[in-house]
Formats: sequence, structure tokens, C-alpha cells
Amino acid sequence: MPSTTGLIVILFFVLCLGATPLDSYILELVVEPMYEISKNGFSSLSHVFSNLSSTKWLVIFNPTAFLVSIRWEKIFNAGIWTLAIYFSIKAIRFLKSFFFDPINRVRLLGDVGYVEELGSGNLDGCQKKAALVAAVMKRRKTGDVPPVYPNGWFSLLESRDLKCGDARSVSCLGKNIAVFRAEDGRAHALHAYCPHMGANLAVGGVVKKNCLECPFHGWQFRGDDGKCVHVPYCEDKHITEQAKVESYCILERNGFIMMWHHAEGCDPLWEPPIIEELENKSWRYGGRSEHIINAHIEEIPENGADVAHLGQVHGPIMTAGIDLARTQNKWWSFTRHDWAGCWNQNPDPELKHVGILDLHHKLILFGKHFPVLDLKVQAQQIGPGLVHLMFDSPMFGKGAYIQTLTPIEPLVQRVVHHIYVNNFFPTIVAKFFLFAEALMVERDIMIWNNKQYISKPLFLKSKEDSLIGRHRRWYSQFYSEHSPRLDTSSVKMDW
Ligand code: FES
Ligand SMILES: [Fe+2]
Repeated sequence: MPSTTGLIVILFFVLCLGATPLDSYILELVVEPMYEISKNGFSSLSHVFSNLSSTKWLVIFNPTAFLVSIRWEKIFNAGIWTLAIYFSIKAIRFLKSFFFDPINRVRLLGDVGYVEELGSGNLDGCQKKAALVAAVMKRRKTGDVPPVYPNGWFSLLESRDLKCGDARSVSCLGKNIAVFRAEDGRAHALHAYCPHMGANLAVGGVVKKNCLECPFHGWQFRGDDGKCVHVPYCEDKHITEQAKVESYCILERNGFIMMWHHAEGCDPLWEPPIIEELENKSWRYGGRSEHIINAHIEEIPENGADVAHLGQVHGPIMTAGIDLARTQNKWWSFTRHDWAGCWNQNPDPELKHVGILDLHHKLILFGKHFPVLDLKVQAQQIGPGLVHLMFDSPMFGKGAYIQTLTPIEPLVQRVVHHIYVNNFFPTIVAKFFLFAEALMVERDIMIWNNKQYISKPLFLKSKEDSLIGRHRRWYSQFYSEHSPRLDTSSVKMDW
């Protein structure tokens, strides 16, 4: 398929034909010869061309005569028309994507949440970003952090990114994992490195039925249990029990492929709940955001129970930006977000892995509250790596954010948000909601990327601080005896 630019160039030349003598000769030069050929064969060709007047030949093959005969105003018109058509196509595409296409906002480590330091002025954009992230990571006092990988379900990939026959290399919990979708549609996750000679199965590996074939010597590993079931140069009976890779327990739910992790090797203690509206497709996808964060994993869900930061960090209107040193500026003081929230552990012992945050958002404009713009939100923190955040807008109805939190390395986390809305909810509004949520997360990232974890915070006698203490006690259920601790000598300082 030619690109839009290619089509536009062709269009321009077609329109320009009218500016040359070719337009009046096109019948004689193309159509008539073809007609003659079809009637009398190629032998008639010389006859056809000999009938063309010498003036016409002269004009076509004599550059000076050709240039003189060009009608330049027609070329100008052709240019105008081509540009008009080009910009119309662009405008239609932009409007379609603006109003109807799902949003995708991605901010990687270094894109947001760092403050430029003095002395980094000579470096260019990418180098400066890398140097800044490395410097902050190196200098920061991490603090006495809890174990780095809590027990629970963690997202490896979004379902849409793994089609049948795809294999992807994923970093999670400090491991490299080969995730692939077998020909029957089921997803599998295997330890990435082949026991034969160490090739990464997901880099160049090919899916064969329900197995992943190593790209190096062709050993095939079964997705269900990681066992090697075929070696191209060796009889099956010679394949030993050691010829296998670890296979991980995964499940696919609400658009995410999730992996169970438990430091003691326990089977899953709970499962992520199904969201009915996604299952029966009564809600539709409105987009995603992705952020890479440099912090201990517990800092991120703890933010939900930290209701005292809501006014300070998330109070200024989103147009005030994400740089916390500037969000309080007086230009935007005529309006602000007002948040009231409370966090509790789910009282059902069967659901003790679930924490519940109830939030009420109001928009205050020139000191007035407009109830129609209110938003009631209930966020369920389901274990350490998943949040279902349900919202209800008086104007547009219900929808949900799904937030997954994946520890890539001890202090590097990936946070992904998906938004789903009911069918009456305009896509543009859903995109705005996701964008607003992403900006609010980016304000938090400025805190997370630079803060120290304090294991014994200086809490004052207040409901707000006591909620954080309550959250920490609740969260401690996700650590167990062998949960891995931070090995400061292995924390990477570069990225
Ligand atoms: S390294 Fe995988 S088959 Fe040899
Ligand atoms: Fe926050």
C-alpha cells in the first residue's frame, strides 16, 4: 500500500498534467495507440506514431519548448489543491484519533519526576536524562525498606500485546520471563533461559503448537510444565528430566496476563476478581497509561491510604502541571480539586487481601461547588499488584480504571492504567479522565522518585497519619519469611 505522502505526490503530478501539453495529447499518445494495438497488433505502432504531428513530438521531447508551453498558473492551482487535500486528510485523521481512538500515554524512567540539577547543562537531552536518573538513584538514601517482592499477582503483559504465536521477553521480579501464546490461544510463562546453552527463548524463539522452540538449537519446551519434549537432533527417549525450564503460574483476566508469586512457593491464595462489565463487554476500552517509577513497591499503594497528601499534591487543578514546585501558582488558584477519602481493610476474612479506599472528588470553581462535576470513586487494592477503581459520574455514568503494578527490579516499578467506560460515556471524556489520572500519578512520581522510605515515620496524632499506619499493618501480610530483601550491592545505578 502506498503511503499517504506517496498518494499525495501522485495526485499532485496528475493535477499537473493539465498544465502541460500532455493533457491535450494524452488521447493521441496513450489511448489511440492502445486502441490501435488492440485492433491491429504491435505492427500498427509505427503507423500510429508517424501520424503524430512533428510539432507535438517537438514539444514533448524539446525541453525548452516543453517549458514554454507549461501553464504555470495550473501548476500553482494543482499545488493549492494538493495541499488542501493533504491537510484535510490530516485534519480528519487527527479529529478521528482525538475523539474516538483510545489514548496511550507512556512515561518511562527519567521522563517525569526528576528535577534538573546544576552542572548537567552541557549534556544533550537523552544523556542528560540518563545522567540525572543515575545520579539521583546513586545519591538517594533508600532507607530501611521492607522486602522488595511481596507475594501476589503481578501483571506481565497486556493481553492485546500477545497474539497467538507471539513470544515476548518480560522482566518481572528481577527475572527474565518468556511469555508466549500457544496456537490454542492459551498464554504461558517460562523461565527465559534455555538449559541447553542459555539462549533466551523469547528472543527469536518460535511458538510450535503449545511449545516454545529455542532459537539456538531448536529444543522445544512445553508451555504447561516447561518440559523439553523435542530435540531436533536427538531421539525423544534420550531427553532427560533435567531438560526443562521453570514454568510460572499465570492467569489472564480483565485484559492482563498476571503471574502468581509467593516466596514460600505457595499456590495462589486468591484470584483477581472478574469485572462483569468487561466480561460481558458492556463497557468499552478508552485507553491506557504506563509509567516507570523508581521507588519501593509498597510506596505506591500506600499513597491510596495517605489521604493527607490529596489536598497538597492533587488539589491544584490539572492545568497547573506536574512540577510540584509550580502547581500552587496563583494563576490557577480560582479553581481546585477537593478530595475527601477514607481507607479501610476489607472486613471479610476471606478478602483480607483487599483494601478499600472511598474517595469523593469535587471541583471547586471560584469558590463554588458544582455537584454535576462530582465523582465518587471506590478503589479496591487487591493484593500488592492490582487496583480496581470504580467511578460514577452524575453526567456520564459508570466506568473503571484497572491499575496494575509490576516490580521489574527491586526499586523499579511499572504502573499501567486501563480505563473502561459504559457505552453512553463519550470516548473523549474517557480519554480526558485517563489523562487527568496520568497527570496526578506523575505528580506522585515526583515524590516517589526522590523520597526515602521511612520504616518508622514521625506520625502525629491524627486520623490521616493513623490510616498510613493501618495500611502498613495490612500490607505486611504480603511479606513472608523468604521474601527477598534489598541487596544494596546489586541495585543497579544505571539504566
Ligand atoms: S541453547 Fe537452547 S537449544 Fe541450545
Ligand atoms: Fe497521590
